Amino acid sequence: MPDQQNIGLRSKRMSQFWSDIVHDLTPYVPGEQPKVQDLIKLNTNENPYGPSPKVLEALKAEVADSLRLYPDPSSDRLRNATANYYGLNASQVFVGNGSDEVLAHIFQGLLNHSRPLLFPDITYSFYPVYCGLYGIEHDTIPLDRHFEINIHNYDRPNGGIIFPNPNAPTGIPLELTRIEALLQKNRHSVVVIDEAYVDFGTESAVKLINAYPNLLVTQTLSKARSLAGLRVGFAMGHPDLIEALTRVKDSFNSYPIDRLAEAGAIAAIEDVDYFDGTCQKVIATRESLVKRLEGMAFVVLPSGGNFIFAKHATVDGKKLSEKLREKKVIVRHFKKPERITPFIRITIGTEPQMEQLVSALTLILSQ
Ligand SMILES: Cc1ncc(COP(=O)(O)O)c(C=O)c1O
Repeated sequence: MPDQQNIGLRSKRMSQFWSDIVHDLTPYVPGEQPKVQDLIKLNTNENPYGPSPKVLEALKAEVADSLRLYPDPSSDRLRNATANYYGLNASQVFVGNGSDEVLAHIFQGLLNHSRPLLFPDITYSFYPVYCGLYGIEHDTIPLDRHFEINIHNYDRPNGGIIFPNPNAPTGIPLELTRIEALLQKNRHSVVVIDEAYVDFGTESAVKLINAYPNLLVTQTLSKARSLAGLRVGFAMGHPDLIEALTRVKDSFNSYPIDRLAEAGAIAAIEDVDYFDGTCQKVIATRESLVKRLEGMAFVVLPSGGNFIFAKHATVDGKKLSEKLREKKVIVRHFKKPERITPFIRITIGTEPQMEQLVSALTLILSQ
């Protein structure tokens, strides 16, 4: 029997055993991780440069007999290293298995209230998925006609506010003065700034943490520190907010950070020179790519991340992404909402990868 039919039969038989909530879930669909080798992968905003050599050394050193022991459940060394880097106290830092897991705990532990959670209509598509998982009522706030977040539209009763800065998939950064103005107005619910891409030229809200006890900032080692495969993310904020996340974590999985992840993450955070150098290279490549694409009749939204969101004057996003794939370059195209279907999201790669992207686009557009 063909696989597809088998799967169909199995899910029909098994579904009687599912919890009600599972029937109603619409899971997040991550960008493709292709099984073939020779593609230029510009679709999931990974870093084109490998992690710091010091990270690889730290990982090798950790492959030892000590793996028979559980890791430290509170990841104290990693929380201290993160706190040192940002000038915070370890009690202001929470770490988890990628920022997706940290965000999941935030949705469950801090954003699930009787009033609706607010986030932009065009944003990280995992947010509505968490709302579905935890039954959180939410309202989406439209981006303005320039695809920007207008903080005045968030001035209404809410059970929390969350958005990425820079936003995803647009890449557009929001000035820190705007975020502070939002915090001044919104003192009675938690404001989460998801800074997954902040290191590529956007100003961080971490410096506001000591002034606003309802501000929580999340970050990840997946992007600027080239460690998407290690799965480490963190949240920073008032110790009371961190305590809520720790309660959720310890009711779910006491050991989200394994021994290898803790060792690698500490080395990554401590190797500041390598991190700065990688970010600068990505930013420089982004700026030169933007100029080249603008010369090819693309409109490129201003980006403070390691990706750009671009639309062509005549060829729509779906067609462009399909044609690029035929030429072995994969970028991300979003089928909804309709306002962004003309766009493609392109991760910034190495200079040679960007050359190949531009050559492929030149060929496609000349056909
Ligand atoms: C806006 C945003 N937040 C969070 C994440 C999650 O990152 P990770 O779970 O790898 O830390 C991503 C991943 O692409 C993202 O785009």
